[in-house]
Amino acid sequence: MNVNTDKELAGSGMMLQQAYGIIEEEPWYVAAMSNLSALIMESMPELNWAGFYLFRDGQLVVGPFQGKPACIHIPVGRGVCGTAVAEDRMQVVPDVHLFPGHIACDCASESEIVIPIHQDGKIIAVLDIDSPVKNRFSAEDSAMLSELVRLMEQKLCWD
Ligand code: SME
Repeated sequence: MNVNTDKELAGSGMMLQQAYGIIEEEPWYVAAMSNLSALIMESMPELNWAGFYLFRDGQLVVGPFQGKPACIHIPVGRGVCGTAVAEDRMQVVPDVHLFPGHIACDCASESEIVIPIHQDGKIIAVLDIDSPVKNRFSAEDSAMLSELVRLMEQKLCWD
């Protein structure tokens, strides 16, 4: 393991610790998601959008985020976010231009990761992160972000 990898792992651990602190202080989803999107944007280099879409009335609606204004509604099965919901699994897209139906909210986006968030076994939201760099999201990133989503599933208050 080289020095950079050690630093990256230490950085990931720190981000999760900070996420824990944010959620512990105020588990209401609007407050927590707002600060979590800011935390992700500040902690992970080379991002242009980080935030959440909420599942509401059978479609995704934009929630708290950092980045350029984004498309407001995404139907299930459309784009990377809608595919994550339709398949109920994480999507790691190394090159968004090769993803059929990718929705380009910010034309700077080159790669993307989307992770479904559940409550009582059903999808309630997705975490969506875009990068202006191709192949930005490593296996370590997806593991760390999955850990963050697990924390949200356990601790957030959705009322
Ligand atoms: N690219 C996403 C749309 C949301 S933006 O990235 C913020 C998609 O294809 O679902």
